[in-house]
Amino acid sequence: MLRSNITFTLVPSSSVRLSLTKANSRSVAFPIVSSQLQTSTTSYTVSDRALESRGFALHRTTQGLNLDHLNSVFVAVGFPRRDPYKIQVALQHTDSLIWVEYVKTQRPVAFARATGDGVFNAIIWDVVVDPTFQGIGLGKAVMERMLEELLEKGITNIALYSEPRVLGFYRPLGFVADPDGIRGMVYSRKNY
Ligand SMILES: CC(C)(COP(=O)(O)OP(=O)(O)OC[C@H]1O[C@@H](n2cnc3c(N)ncnc32)[C@H](O)[C@@H]1OP(=O)(O)O)[C@@H](O)C(=O)NCCC(=O)NCCS
Repeated sequence: MLRSNITFTLVPSSSVRLSLTKANSRSVAFPIVSSQLQTSTTSYTVSDRALESRGFALHRTTQGLNLDHLNSVFVAVGFPRRDPYKIQVALQHTDSLIWVEYVKTQRPVAFARATGDGVFNAIIWDVVVDPTFQGIGLGKAVMERMLEELLEKGITNIALYSEPRVLGFYRPLGFVADPDGIRGMVYSRKNY
């Protein structure tokens, strides 16, 4: 069944949920990425070294990433559990990926990925932080690095879907809703 009632509020970035299958409306973020993010590591709120000293390791490839554990993080934050094979395929078609490992358990505790055309546009998906590790800067750490990586590739139009309750997380990162009045639209099928 076709669905045409999804409303889009263009916002600044593009994080997240892969599933366009949900019936509830959601916001889309079309980020006007701030210039401060065009610098390198000095723009990070928390340095790689500081993360390491707190027991976290940053990764930019899927090497060492246990997809069942990643799926568990998705589920823990309320995303639907996904077919591991489809996660694998999605990651194979992902251009940029950042995840944080809690070294003590070797499990992923923060994650974000981006797809796009490699030149003009990117969409950030699946921005998640394990609930146990939320509120200590990991989400921001992942997003800052993701934005920098995309900007370094020359990609300046970066979008994401944002749950209304998370808009306040994305705004300080440079994402704005409805930039220049532009609204997003989604074609989505329920239970597809
Ligand atoms: C949203 C999420 C990724 C944030 O990650 P996090 O590691 O908890 O956030 P951080 O600790 O890095 O917070 C960074 C800043 O954002 C703020 N922030 C975090 N979550 C916020 C929210 N929901 N609304 C407003 N501000 C928020 C923090 O207070 C912090 O502010 P500061 O820099 O002034 O101190 C995480 O809470 C999460 O995974 N939520 C469930 C999944 C989800 O909703 N993902 C987004 C789907 S659109």
